[in-house]
Amino acid sequence: MKAIKGLVLSGGAGTRLRPLTYTAAKQLVPVANKPILYYVIENLVSAGIDDIGVIISPETGDDIKNTLGSGSEWGVKIQYILQDKPLGLAHAVKVSRGYLEDSPFVMYLGDNLIGCGIKEFINKLHETSSNAVILLKPVPNPSSFGVAQIDDGGKIVRLMEKPENPPSNLALVGVYVFDPSIHEAIDSIKPSARGELEITDAIQRLVDDKKKVYSHTIKEWWLDTGKKDDLLAANSVVLDDLIERRLNGEIDEDSTVSGRVQLDKGARVIDSVIRGPVTIGRDTVIKNSFIGPFTSIGSNVSIERAAMENCVILDNVTVSHIERLEDSIIGKNARVHKNHRRHNALRLMIGDDSDVEL
Ligand code: TTP
Repeated sequence: MKAIKGLVLSGGAGTRLRPLTYTAAKQLVPVANKPILYYVIENLVSAGIDDIGVIISPETGDDIKNTLGSGSEWGVKIQYILQDKPLGLAHAVKVSRGYLEDSPFVMYLGDNLIGCGIKEFINKLHETSSNAVILLKPVPNPSSFGVAQIDDGGKIVRLMEKPENPPSNLALVGVYVFDPSIHEAIDSIKPSARGELEITDAIQRLVDDKKKVYSHTIKEWWLDTGKKDDLLAANSVVLDDLIERRLNGEIDEDSTVSGRVQLDKGARVIDSVIRGPVTIGRDTVIKNSFIGPFTSIGSNVSIERAAMENCVILDNVTVSHIERLEDSIIGKNARVHKNHRRHNALRLMIGDDSDVEL
């Protein structure tokens, strides 16, 4: 058997995460101050995969290349594959054919986070000598996802895209293991009603052709970071699960920093209270403020006389004189200030597709 490769899908439009995705690829949006794509690469690397292809789009490809580089940071080889248009997940596999050759591969959606490793799941391809293994997760609202019906042995019987009457509560997580028979299946499908070559159709073709398609159901968390609330949820789950107390910045004697707080080099906490889990990036200054649990603050941020909880603040933001900020995402370089001149007047300069709740 040839060595298994990784295929990370980092193209796509990212329309649902606008306005953040006007200036950055959605896979590079940080969760607990680390781009989502890093978690994806690290999960592949810790499963022993050292040859990874990354699908990129013409719009955000350069950013992704500059962020991940050649893979040397992880001791692996990363190659980039351009997909001209986001014509579907199966289309992404099609354009990767030359890279994949006849190797088995793990296909991993670049905006999906899971709370477990994938080694056991990859091994299942060999152990069951199957043609594909699909990762599943029970969800309360299966109608919003691709859904799988399985038999008692975990074999896939049928797949459906966003079904009105779901046959099970098992959603398809964006991680799949395929052997080369997926290529023939992709060659035989047609674009769906939304004009995309769907991976679910290709997997259904494998099932119809009597190939062996197994499932692996995870108990750990799975987060699809495509929308604002999902991104906040991802931030709090990852902070809760992965953040350790590590204080590399400066804290003055009038401040209290309690719980699992990560303070990067050059960051300063002055006369403030910070209650973890919280992560604070390089050179950020927090002054006369309260930073509550489940907050991630990027680098070079300035926060003065403000209180916040469950927030994601990206790089170079300034926040001052804000009584309380909750469940908010503030994009790069934004300023959030209280207007002292007029009492009840709001003065706003809001970018396209923003969401403001007052
Ligand atoms: P989706 O979230 O399905 O699509 P999208 O990125 O176009 O998002 P939106 O609906 O917000 O516009 O994509 C899942 C992942 O797969 C994501 O990381 C982008 C990637 N992708 C590709 O690389 N190529 C494609 O053709 C598609 C559809 C997605």
